[in-house]
Amino acid sequence: MRCHMCFEALVLVISVTASVSWSPYIQPMTMTNNRAAWIEGPSAQCEITPEPALLPWRLILLGAPGVGKGTQAELLHRRLRACHLSTGDVFRAAGARAECDQSPAMKEALGYMRRGELVPDSTVWAMVRERKGCLQCAGGFILDGFPRTLAQAESLKELMDSEGLKLTAVVNYELPFSEIVVRMGGRRTCDKCKTVYHVTERPPRQEGKCDRCDGKLFQREDDRPESIKVRLEAYERSTAPLIEFYRNLGLLVEIRATGMPDDIFEHTFTQLEARRVREVAQRVLVAHADRCE
Ligand code: AP5
Repeated sequence: MRCHMCFEALVLVISVTASVSWSPYIQPMTMTNNRAAWIEGPSAQCEITPEPALLPWRLILLGAPGVGKGTQAELLHRRLRACHLSTGDVFRAAGARAECDQSPAMKEALGYMRRGELVPDSTVWAMVRERKGCLQCAGGFILDGFPRTLAQAESLKELMDSEGLKLTAVVNYELPFSEIVVRMGGRRTCDKCKTVYHVTERPPRQEGKCDRCDGKLFQREDDRPESIKVRLEAYERSTAPLIEFYRNLGLLVEIRATGMPDDIFEHTFTQLEARRVREVAQRVLVAHADRCE
């Protein structure tokens, strides 16, 4: 009888894991969400409400500035549907508004950002907490650029625990600093849709113009050599310790960020998928073991 139950559990695991690989929540996107509730704040409404996923992907991307987190977040978003939530994008959108529309805390934050320093934890956390609806979104999320300090990671954990939300994984991208400097030096961003290019590695079809929306490409203020140095130092001092924090929580997935973006993405996706299949199989087996007893 017990063996028969275990055989049933095995069949269930195989069918559930197969459904994880084929499920609708990893189909490619047809439309892109404008993420208004994240970029502008909770009073704004997203253009598209993401479809609820059976098992939403809740990811954090870690890695030094310029390693390619934003590029990978965009590719992951297209495959997993979860929204790309970048704290840097929120600050840059606020910086593009008229000065009279910027709060004193935001003006101060933009000063830190220009110099390449981290914005104080209290400002960042107030901004993220205000947008906690995005973390609760049934479509899941891909956090990029947050958390960046242990204090931010602990605040996020506390909030997620209290809301009953579970992180799927934390992906850490690794690349030698010399290559990072080349990536940041050549980065160009569209002023309208925020698509990221690189002058030699990912050039637009027409110089200075976005392939997607014809917007103008600009160089970020914090991609100047003096800011790059400050940003890399801030990363080493404040963000690198998060690798150990998430490793100890059993959530870390480590990825080498060398090679073409599509190859790095496939590698990331394969690892995430394998992790998810293991997690689902484990849950099914535990549930069956409980029933067998
Ligand atoms: P943020 O916007 O988060 O910037 P960042 O973490 O410094 O990361 P970047 O956007 O510079 O790089 P990325 O890893 O996304 O690389 P990308 O894909 O663009 O933060 C900016 C500032 O805001 C901070 O300095 C801070 O002041 C403030 N801030 C934000 N969040 C904060 C927080 N939580 N706490 C405190 N302060 C905060 O790629 C880079 C380039 O490389 C591109 O040109 C791209 O086309 C190219 N590229 C990408 N992949 C490849 C590849 N595989 N091969 C070749 N080229 C590639």
